Amino acid sequence: MLTHLVEANYHGDLQAAVQKALLQVQGTFGIAVMHVDHPSAIVVARRGSPIILGISERASLAASDASALAQHTDKVVFLEDNEVAILEPGKFTITTLDNRSVNRGTTDLDFNIESMDRGSFPHYMLKEIFEQPESVENALRGRVNHSEAVAKLGGLEAVQDRLVHARHLIIVSCGTSYYAGLFGRYVMETLTDLTVETELASEFRYRKLNIREGTVVLAISQSGETADTLAALREAKRKGALVLGLVNVVGSTIARETHAGIYSHAGIEVGVASTKSFTSQLTILTLMALLIGRGRDLSYEEGHDIIRALEKVPEQIGEILKQAGKIRELAEKYCHTDHFLFVGRKFQYPIALEGALKLKEIAYIHSEGYAAGEMKHGPIALIDPKFPTLALALEDGSYERVVSNMQEIRAREGRIIAITTEGNTKLGNLVDDIIYIPRTHEAVAPLLTVVPLQLFAYYCGVLLGRDVDKPRNLAKSVTVE
Ligand code: M6R
Repeated sequence: MLTHLVEANYHGDLQAAVQKALLQVQGTFGIAVMHVDHPSAIVVARRGSPIILGISERASLAASDASALAQHTDKVVFLEDNEVAILEPGKFTITTLDNRSVNRGTTDLDFNIESMDRGSFPHYMLKEIFEQPESVENALRGRVNHSEAVAKLGGLEAVQDRLVHARHLIIVSCGTSYYAGLFGRYVMETLTDLTVETELASEFRYRKLNIREGTVVLAISQSGETADTLAALREAKRKGALVLGLVNVVGSTIARETHAGIYSHAGIEVGVASTKSFTSQLTILTLMALLIGRGRDLSYEEGHDIIRALEKVPEQIGEILKQAGKIRELAEKYCHTDHFLFVGRKFQYPIALEGALKLKEIAYIHSEGYAAGEMKHGPIALIDPKFPTLALALEDGSYERVVSNMQEIRAREGRIIAITTEGNTKLGNLVDDIIYIPRTHEAVAPLLTVVPLQLFAYYCGVLLGRDVDKPRNLAKSVTVE
């Protein structure tokens, strides 16, 4: 339809034809238009969906995600809604749809181009899983004040007072970022007395919002372009909330539209499955909780415990990655199952959900993530020898209750893989297989337990011949509703 509309308005000037055509349409678009009469020009336009221009001496480029441009240039220009640009070799001009000219300078991309190279890894997903010791380190770098046992988050400084004294925090996000948000709720509630809600952005944007004085909305997004998350934050902003972002892609739309925010510094994530961006999100949410908690009633000692635990994470993830061979063997044993259940409680509940999502999207195995305590309210009816469970059973405050859930599964002849704390010898015959993770603080443990689940999904996907970096039907940034 758009092509016909551009054609109907075309009288020799392609940019004018696109402007006129788009003034007649409703809805969202991010388009690139080429015409046989103008072989060296591309006209791009956006409303709602992202368009980024890449500028170099040799060429002008356009993409919907900055990472696609990083191999060609580090100078980009972000097109805003209702703008049209004409790209020609070495130059570009931007106007609004109603033909007012726009002057916009270029922005430097801070991508490290080497991170686009897979190196010796067969897939980006595996490379990105193995990058986590470094990406967590980067998320922490310069953000901890040891002497006061508090976090230093430069991007939040301007709003720190409002954040620390907020009454109500609502976290909005989608997919893996939503599970990070769920973790955020547990960690904020543990380290602060703030009321925290987590909401799927696709639901939040259509709810009747109760934004009161002191409400802060935090949007979490790797890409910074997810349409539902963006719409949710715009709605919250319109209703008067302080809107913050936790985003990976620098300069992305969500990063630009929030009042303040923090970058996760995970580096470019190419694989469609979020892996390293998730652990960076968990790291920063923990730092945010520390910042708010120390501004309220969290003790110095408790603050220090969290910092000590966070700082050990890069090395501990390294230890877990050494078990990749063993996890591959588990994948060989279990990848031909049709169904999988992931269970965990409290801090491990969001990780059960994330483990199930990874296995679905990468291996196309039907998997369910459940709060372990919910088993007896329905899902236990599914358990039989062909429906294995992965149980997150760390020696923490929930251990005894998770073990009792595992006993119920065992009594129905369900097979169990347990992820438990190093040195735990008590699980014995209750489980078929065990993966150990190093001992850490309960609130920090999700940063470790998710790693074997990522590897498990990856190896299942590879063994089943899936396209793990580009799973079917999925896109890295979901820029449509
Ligand atoms: O870029 P975002 O973090 O906003 O993306 C949200 C989801 O689309 C994303 O996490 C998706 O669920 C991933 N494919 C999960 O691996």
